[in-house]
Parts: sequence; C-alpha cells; structure tokens
Amino acid sequence: MKAGVVLALVFLLCNSSLQDAETPDPKFDVNQEIIQLHDRVTRLKEDLKVMEKNNAALRMRLAAANLELKNLKEPPKIAFSAALTHPVGHYNVDITLVYTKVITNVGRAYNPVTGIFTAPLNGSYYIRFTSCDNTDSHGMAVDLYKNNEKMNGLSKYSNGFMTYFSGGLVIQLEAGDVVYTKLPANSKLYDDANNRTTFSGFLIFPM
Ligand SMILES: *[C@@H]1O[C@H](CO)[C@@H](O)[C@H](O)[C@H]1NC(C)=O
Ligand SMILES: *[C@@H]1O[C@H](CO)[C@@H](O)[C@H](O)[C@H]1NC(C)=O
Repeated sequence: MKAGVVLALVFLLCNSSLQDAETPDPKFDVNQEIIQLHDRVTRLKEDLKVMEKNNAALRMRLAAANLELKNLKEPPKIAFSAALTHPVGHYNVDITLVYTKVITNVGRAYNPVTGIFTAPLNGSYYIRFTSCDNTDSHGMAVDLYKNNEKMNGLSKYSNGFMTYFSGGLVIQLEAGDVVYTKLPANSKLYDDANNRTTFSGFLIFPM
C-alpha cells in the first residue's frame, strides 16, 4: 500500500517534469521577464513618488483651508499692552525699548524680554505708544519700527515735569513681521510704578 503511494508520487513527479520539459514556451525568457518586472516596479515607484508629492501638497492646502475656516469661525485674538518700570536713557546709540511690565498679552505675540511684537498672521494692526519724561536735560523721543523700516519718529523737548506724547499708526503686517520702538541716541524716557510709558497694539482684522 505504502509502496504503491510512493510509486504513484514518483510517477506524477516524473510526469510533470517531463511535461515541463516537453512544453517549453519558446517565447518565455526568464531574464526578459525579470527585466520587464524590474521596469514596471521602477515605474510604479516613480508614480508613487508623484502621488506622495501630490498628497503632501494637498495636505498643505487642507491645513491652510482649515486655518482659514478656523479664523472665520473664531477670529484670532491678538492684543497687548506693556509698560516700562523705570527711567531709560540717555545712551549714545539708539536702543530697542523693552517694556517689561506686561499689562495685557492676549495671543502672546508681544515678547517682554525683547520688546518686540511679532505678527502671528497677515492683517491690519493698530500699534501705539505713550511716552513720558520728567527732566529737561535731554529731549524725549521714540521711533516706531516695522522690521528695519522706521514708521514714525516723535520727539519733544521735555518741560521738566511729566511731559507726555503719544503716537499710533495702523500698520499692515504679514505673519512674521516685527514691530518695536527705539529710544534714539541722547534721548530719555521716564517711568515708575504708574505705567506712564507704554507700548500697545492689537489686530484690527486678518487679511
Ligand atoms: C500673507 O501675505 C503675503 C503677501 O501678500 C502672502 O504672500 C502670504 O501668502 C500671506 N500668508 C497667509 C498665511 O495668508
Ligand atoms: C500698572 O500695571 C500693572 C499691571 O497691569 C497694574 O497691576 C498696576 O496697578 C498699574 N499701576 C498703576 C499705578 O496703575
């Protein structure tokens, strides 16, 4: 019985290998087939790369659209005010004023360590400052900057006791633009606990 099964198997195997040998496909060339397969895989890989690129582009557009939708649903809230805490100047060079006492900083776009406001998104912003001085030995002055561009420069000869001026502009900012004030060389400003010298701004509307 066992021998019969083995014989049958041997017969089958021989038969099938005989058949293979008997019917070789003259057009079938294994090497050729491998080369073709290889080419197809290469093409597929290229297609996949293109699709991945398209996918990334789509994801970016989707993220941008989601952001716009979010801005429409809940407009971003950006508003800050900060004050000096003590007199500043005079120096023989211009310095960036650092208003370290934060009064309001919704959206955290104002940095009280550097004195710089960085626009988090494109839009129209209202930026203003109020400045005080209380001596007549040096003039008081403030320059307002957007990036490296001076937007306005105010100065006044202090009358000697709590003299003020203020300035403000609506400024068009792109995300990443910075706004700050400088104390020009040889001028002075005054502050104490009363928040006399301040820097403020807020987003009017995104664009
Ligand atoms: C901001 O504005 C600039 C200039 O108009 C534009 O190139 C950029 O795509 C805008 N960014 C966003 C997030 O709308
Ligand atoms: C100055 O601003 C701080 C912070 O908002 C506030 O706590 C303080 O009362 C203000 N000082 C005066 C005199 O208004």
